[in-house]
Amino acid sequence: MGSVDEIGSSEAIDRAASILRGGGLVAFPTETVYGLGADAENPSAVSQIFELKRRPTSHPLIVHIAAASQLEAWTSAIDERALRLARGCWPGPLTLVLPRGPRIPHAVTGGLETVGLRVPAHPVALALLRAFGGAVAAPSANRFGRVSATTASHVRAEFGDLVPTILDGGPAEVGVESTIVDVSGPTIAILRPGGVTREQVSAIVGHDVPVLERSEVRVPGQLASHYAPRAQVVLTAKRDLAERVAQLHEDGRRVAVLAVGEVPPVDADVVFTAKTTAELAQRLYAVLRDFDSARCDVILASAPDPAGLGLAIGDRLKRAAGPRE
Ligand code: TXA
Ligand code: MG
Repeated sequence: MGSVDEIGSSEAIDRAASILRGGGLVAFPTETVYGLGADAENPSAVSQIFELKRRPTSHPLIVHIAAASQLEAWTSAIDERALRLARGCWPGPLTLVLPRGPRIPHAVTGGLETVGLRVPAHPVALALLRAFGGAVAAPSANRFGRVSATTASHVRAEFGDLVPTILDGGPAEVGVESTIVDVSGPTIAILRPGGVTREQVSAIVGHDVPVLERSEVRVPGQLASHYAPRAQVVLTAKRDLAERVAQLHEDGRRVAVLAVGEVPPVDADVVFTAKTTAELAQRLYAVLRDFDSARCDVILASAPDPAGLGLAIGDRLKRAAGPRE
């Protein structure tokens, strides 16, 4: 049986660091979602991540480091924009896409000449990175295309004993993945909205930063269907919720409702309303999992305004509602 280690114990962290050194995998908490980590410099360790997640090897992994001061070891070029973003947001939910340094194998970058780097803001993640000493390549700890994990027990539910070592750092505080900002070329762009808002990124660089809908780079979070629970997700305006619930009930379907703020009374089987977008972000993936456990057939989700964290939440809901293969 695998073990879920007690929160933050230094013994557990040392054990996890030595598993990484030996080429093994470790699931660990970050402030966004749990990650499934391997030594970024060890291609065979990295390849195990792709196998376990059943993730196409062309989809690059994010590389986690302990401090912005280590950036130079992992990228071949940093400019002032990247440094300002790193100083302004790290540790935190921001990934910078930069030219790949020679220590980052192509197995990590999916063959790209750029690498996504981030310093996570979670004491357990930082302690693990410091104890390990190197860089940790880690995607979200979920099967490819499925709902991300925001607790240690979600990771266990995804992988069972295939991932024997899971560091437990409690529920993730931010709850949606990092914002990915491409600073590898002359124009800066957000490739994936996330925990650092577009407004924050724009304020740091001094101009409006666009969010790319489609990108030349391969970002699985940009596939039509991603972050998908078992139940069908349907984006629904708040004013239409009551009527849609009634229609679905007539068809004998079990219905869940997900929204932020005030919602008109609805007769759904399960309802989750968050007071703020921060609360919705934090609970989003756990609630989608709960709706599956409650055997809901359809989730009617009302997307928040695309401001602040609402942009990332709307992005995840849109992809969760996307056409499935
Ligand atoms: O918050 C997060 O970012 C979490 C935690 C564990 O750090 N990680 C995460 O990893 O969300 P993953 O693999 O689920 O998503 C990483 C995203 C993918 O969409 C990948 O394509 C993109 O980062 N990515 C990684 N390297 C890239 C690169 N060089 N260029 C463009 N996109 C890149
Ligand atoms: Mg993911």
